[in-house]
Amino acid sequence: MNAPSSGKKLLEVLAGASQVPPPAWLMRQAGRYLPEYRALRERAGSFLDLCFTPTLAAEATLQPVRRFRFDAAILFSDILVVPLALGQPVTFEAGDGPRLDVDALNHLGEGIDHGRLGPIYEAIGRVKTVLAPDTALIGFCGAPWTVATYMVAGRGTPDQAPARTFAYGDPRTFGRLIDRLVTASVEYLVRQFQAGVDAVQIFDTWAGTLPPEEFRRWCIEPVARVVKGVRAAVPGAAIIGFPRGAGTCLPAYVAQAGVTAVGLDWMIDRGFACAHVPPAMAIQGNLDPLVLRAGGAALDAATDAVLAAFCGRPFIFNLGHGILPDTPIAHVERMLARVRRA
Ligand code: CP3
Repeated sequence: MNAPSSGKKLLEVLAGASQVPPPAWLMRQAGRYLPEYRALRERAGSFLDLCFTPTLAAEATLQPVRRFRFDAAILFSDILVVPLALGQPVTFEAGDGPRLDVDALNHLGEGIDHGRLGPIYEAIGRVKTVLAPDTALIGFCGAPWTVATYMVAGRGTPDQAPARTFAYGDPRTFGRLIDRLVTASVEYLVRQFQAGVDAVQIFDTWAGTLPPEEFRRWCIEPVARVVKGVRAAVPGAAIIGFPRGAGTCLPAYVAQAGVTAVGLDWMIDRGFACAHVPPAMAIQGNLDPLVLRAGGAALDAATDAVLAAFCGRPFIFNLGHGILPDTPIAHVERMLARVRRA
C-alpha cells in the first residue's frame, strides 16, 4: 500500500487529508468524447478487444491523463468482464449497450476464470510503468447488485425490474448469485491491487432503485462483504464506494459498507451529505454530467457550488456519474481550470 506520503494527492485525500485545490478525475474519463479514444476504439475492432488487449487498454487508460493531467487514471475496462469470467457470454453491440446470455445463468462456472482476466492485470502493470509518480491508478468493479441487474436482465434496463422481481420472488437463488459475485469481486479486486492499482472504486450504479430494506440487503451488505474480503488480503486497501441514487440511505451506507470514501451522484442534497458523511471520510463528486455538457455560466456556477460545499473537508472533485459521449472537450478544460483555481 502507498503511505499517505506517497506524493499522490488523491491517496492523501483518501487517507483523510483535505487538499486545496482538490484532486480531480472523472468517471468514464476514457471514452467517446475524446477523438483519440474513438481512433483507438476503431483500431481495436470491438470494445471487448480493446478491454482485453493490454497495450490498447493501457493506452486508453492513459489518454485522458495525458490530455487533462487528472490526479488519477482509472483502469480502462468494464464492470461486465466479471460475468464474462464467471462463464456468462457478454457482447457489446455498437450504440446498443451490452447483451448477456441469460440462459447461461443456470450453468455458470464455479468461480472466476483469472486466465480470462489476465490481460486486464497485465494492462495495470503496463500503466504503472509509465504513469507519473503523482498520479494514482484506480481499479474498479461493479457492485454485486449492479452486476446482477445486467446478468439477470441480459441487458441494461431503465428500472432494473427483472433483477428486482427475481430478488422478491426467489431471494434464496438471487442471494446465491450475489454470493458468487461477492467472492468474484473480492478475488478480482485483490488481483488488481497485486497488479499495482493504488485504490479501487465499487460502482453501484443501480443502487437507487432499491427500497430501503432491499438497499440494505442487496447493496450495503454485499459491498460490506467485498470490502472486508479485499482488506483481509490487502490491509488498509483504499476503497471508494459509489452508491448512485442512495438518497436517504446514504447515512446507512457510509456507516455500514466499510468504504474509505463515498462517491456522490448529482441528485443528492450536498448539505445532507456533509451532515451524514463522517468528517474524516473523503467525499467524491458530484457535478451533474449534463451541466458539464451544457457549459457556460451554468457550468461555472455548478462547479463553484460543488467546491463551496466540499472544499475544507477531504474531497475529490468528480462528476455525479460518467461523462457523456457528446461533452465538448473545451467544457472539461474550463471546469478543470476553475477547480484548479480553488
Ligand atoms: O471510467 C473509465 O474511463 C474507465 C472505464 C469504464 C467503462 N465502463 C468503459 C466503457 C468504467 C469504469 C465502466 C463502468 C461501467 N460499465 C458501469 C458503471 C458506471 C456507470 O457508468 O454506470 C456500467 C453500468 C457499465 C456497463 C456498460 N458498459 C454499459 C451499460 C455500456 C453501454 C453504454 C455506453 O456508455 O455505451 C458499457 C460500454 C462502455 N464501457 C463504453 C466504455 C468507454 C462505451 C463502449 C464503446 O466505446 O463502444
